[in-house]
Amino acid sequence: SVGLDQLLASPLAQARASLARLAQQPALPLPAGLYGPGRRNSAGLDLAVAAMRAPLLAAHAQLRVPPVAQAQAGEAPAAVARAAAAFPAWDARPVAERAQALRRAADAMEARMAPLCALLVAEGRKTWGDAVAEVREAVDFLRYYAGEAERVMQPALLPGPTGERNELRLAGRGPWVCISPWNFPLAIFTGQVAAALAAGNTVLAKPAEQTPAVAREAVRLLHEAGVPPDALQLLHGPGETVGAALVAAPGVAGVVFTGSTQVARLIQRALAAKDGAIVPLIAETGGINAMLVDSTALPEQVADAVVQSAFRSAGQRCSALRLLCVHEGIADAVIEMVAGAARELTVGDPALLSTDVGPVIDAQAFAGLQGELQRLRQTARAVLAPAEAPAAPPHCIAPQAFEVERVTDVQREIFGPVLHIARWSGDPQAVVEQVNALGYGLTLGIQTRIDSRAQALAARARVGNVYVNRNMIGAVVGVQPFGGEGLSGTGPKAGGPHYLPRFCAERTLTVNT
Ligand code: SER
Repeated sequence: SVGLDQLLASPLAQARASLARLAQQPALPLPAGLYGPGRRNSAGLDLAVAAMRAPLLAAHAQLRVPPVAQAQAGEAPAAVARAAAAFPAWDARPVAERAQALRRAADAMEARMAPLCALLVAEGRKTWGDAVAEVREAVDFLRYYAGEAERVMQPALLPGPTGERNELRLAGRGPWVCISPWNFPLAIFTGQVAAALAAGNTVLAKPAEQTPAVAREAVRLLHEAGVPPDALQLLHGPGETVGAALVAAPGVAGVVFTGSTQVARLIQRALAAKDGAIVPLIAETGGINAMLVDSTALPEQVADAVVQSAFRSAGQRCSALRLLCVHEGIADAVIEMVAGAARELTVGDPALLSTDVGPVIDAQAFAGLQGELQRLRQTARAVLAPAEAPAAPPHCIAPQAFEVERVTDVQREIFGPVLHIARWSGDPQAVVEQVNALGYGLTLGIQTRIDSRAQALAARARVGNVYVNRNMIGAVVGVQPFGGEGLSGTGPKAGGPHYLPRFCAERTLTVNT
């Protein structure tokens, strides 16, 4: 009789019941100043964009993006040496002072919301809604890690035998190399750098080649907020040369990387080959993220969650849905609704307020996706044929979906607005096991009206973030710590309580009293 009452109740009665449950839950306090769940739903973002429409469009019209100077690989050792020289003074500052600098940078970013969004649209090819969400996330990271540093970096007295005083202290480790991707050129860049700096480290930041101007603006604001120039240095250039030279340079105390699994492995090998101290790596990589839909799920809710998760941000999120596993009993209804809703999306120029899906990041990504689509057209059944994508701006791809025979037919992440669909019947636990066997472990969506089933499936899944009966993107800093396991990364989770300590050295002091 598990969940039978729920199954029998009409959708309206269920909605009333869940509203009543929500009303009874006490609101949890968020750390002060975080945008937090305000970013969660797209309706909130649409309102934010509408409210800021005039300054956003004015900033877009005024925007000039001057080119950035490229670093040479040969500059890396000297840059790391400067960061090492700047480390003792930055690390010796009281944690409250470092936190204050991050909070000043957060305030400055907030005050520059419109120009930053314009830059994200122009350089990162983001839609306005995604741009607003991203600036808010960067602000959240700065304030969250400032607060976390103040919380965890206080010396802690540990209980022990009398006659001794035992204390655990966290301190910075030295220069960190922060290598960040183009898909969240402000938020992930700022998150990595803010955590490293808050912990007392100095930073060599190597942003993605596609989005240097966004990184430069973030660094400018952090310098103005009081981070010394040698404590935060920006080196632009290709990962293969500049990134590799930074990782290989003597004196690096840690590396934090967000990007592909393949590059994470290259970094891990390069670090393993170095002489001297063993250098930690924090890697956040990709995923073949699935959503498991059982026959009790509400097709309307599923369709909305799928369209948000698979196609928003042109599918260029590491959290994005790649593989919809839908029970054969409702598969036809769900596929029809997903296809219908996806066809309603406006694909095109991200600078237009009406655009839902902008272009992919560049010509190389576009060409790679065309190759994947060609392969899928030959090996799978197209269930959402592409609407005509606009010729301008270049590199637009209309959302597409393909039905595959089996979960195991999906072997790699396709980083764009492309969805695989697999039907299943029988035991949903077996589907979760097949998804686990793909080896990735970032996000998983579950859609069911049986609470106990959702719990059991979530417990079986080897993934970092499980989302039940909602979309599976847009993890909120401090509320939904984000990051995966297996081929999806090392952890700890960004925006969670264990992230900052990983950037620290831990020291125990035992004094005979
Ligand atoms: N943090 C982002 C998200 O949750 C990752 O791509 O969508």
